[in-house]
Amino acid sequence: MNPVPSPFDPVQIGSITLRNRFVRSGANEGMVVDGAPSKALVKHHRDMAAGGVALCTAAYGAVAEVGRTLPNQVWIRREIIPDLKALADAVHAEGGKMSYQLTHGGLFVTSIKVPGRLMSACGGFNKAGALAGNYFSRAMNEDDMALVIGQFVEAARVCREAGLDAVELHMGHGYLLNQFISPFNNKRKDKYGGNAENRARFPAAVLAAVKAAVGSDMAVVAKINVSDGVKGGATVEDGIVTAKVLEAAGADMLVLSGGRNVESGAFMFGSNHNVEEMEKVLGKKGAFFFKLSQIGAPKVQFHEMYFLEYSRQIRAAVKMPLAYLGGVKSMANVEQAMREGFECVVMARALIHDTGLVNKFRSGELKQSGCTSCNRCVPYIYHPAGTWCVMNPPNDPALNRVRASA
Ligand SMILES: Cc1cc2nc3c(=O)[nH]c(=O)nc-3n(C[C@H](O)[C@H](O)[C@H](O)COP(=O)(O)O)c2cc1C
Repeated sequence: MNPVPSPFDPVQIGSITLRNRFVRSGANEGMVVDGAPSKALVKHHRDMAAGGVALCTAAYGAVAEVGRTLPNQVWIRREIIPDLKALADAVHAEGGKMSYQLTHGGLFVTSIKVPGRLMSACGGFNKAGALAGNYFSRAMNEDDMALVIGQFVEAARVCREAGLDAVELHMGHGYLLNQFISPFNNKRKDKYGGNAENRARFPAAVLAAVKAAVGSDMAVVAKINVSDGVKGGATVEDGIVTAKVLEAAGADMLVLSGGRNVESGAFMFGSNHNVEEMEKVLGKKGAFFFKLSQIGAPKVQFHEMYFLEYSRQIRAAVKMPLAYLGGVKSMANVEQAMREGFECVVMARALIHDTGLVNKFRSGELKQSGCTSCNRCVPYIYHPAGTWCVMNPPNDPALNRVRASA
């Protein structure tokens, strides 16, 4: 058996070396101007890197204009290379590596009206897009798949040209690639539907194409669900098959998450959304539909490392590097993840609360994050100043009005 590494040891992920095992999870910062990173985004990730994070992940970068869920999301394209470069340079100056989460929303487009029907694994009534007037989806054919593969490849090339170190392909949480993996959306009768291997076929083709295009210079990571946490969705058995298929397709690391934004948000966060804070940010009218969506949502009691039971099963099934995610809040959690054989640990809320957490863990100044997992940071993805922890002083909205390269 290999000795358990220290979380502060370097690790090789594909073609890049991380200085330690700490990864900032892809978590929508809401720091975008004209579909490009803002100066606020640069500051946010510079602070993460200065605080000791090895791999910062910005979220999310749509691979196509119609792939955005919300209007204030980055659309990765050549025109924004200088903005992406400003982001990468700032993180590199602090000794960190920079990754962008690449996503296509498919039918999950909640705040933008897209002409025609939204692409997905299958066609039909589209609850997720109905509020924005995107009432129906349509099943993708092979030409659509080739188009989307090309869009992911081009987005990854743009990231590489901007000097980023990694891309994370989002295959969880209900976005397009997850709409193929999940039987909740995928009822296809062709080779892209049916058993779990078939459902992972299109996401694996995207990954293989991205890896072939940029894999010799960049790490190609995929974020998957260990379980969708919803009746009729993907189970951990599906997650195991997905992991094996992606390992065979050449993924450099899998980030193990769970849940779907529309159907099982509390499962994703291990705790319920904060409706009162949502109302503060969105106003009564804006929060109304969110509240409707929460009716009947099960009450979830947070506990640390809430995906561990599932993620262990993926660990046992593949040899490739895996990153543990979900409720990591203490040095004890991090050390446990190392003992359980995960190469990296991924954190969102604990790092939003304290960008300096990794260095504080290293120096012994802190053993436990002060994050309360209250999810009050989540509504701030819609705020003009971008995401922050409500226990901290607010962000400067002026920084979020200027493009990163300005
Ligand atoms: C404010 C906020 C925004 C998020 N946005 C995204 C996102 O854009 N993409 C994504 O994959 N996950 C997103 N997440 C989920 C996190 O990446 C992560 O999966 C989840 O918070 C659990 O990790 P944690 O317990 O370390 O916070 C978001 C989380 C938060 C708190």
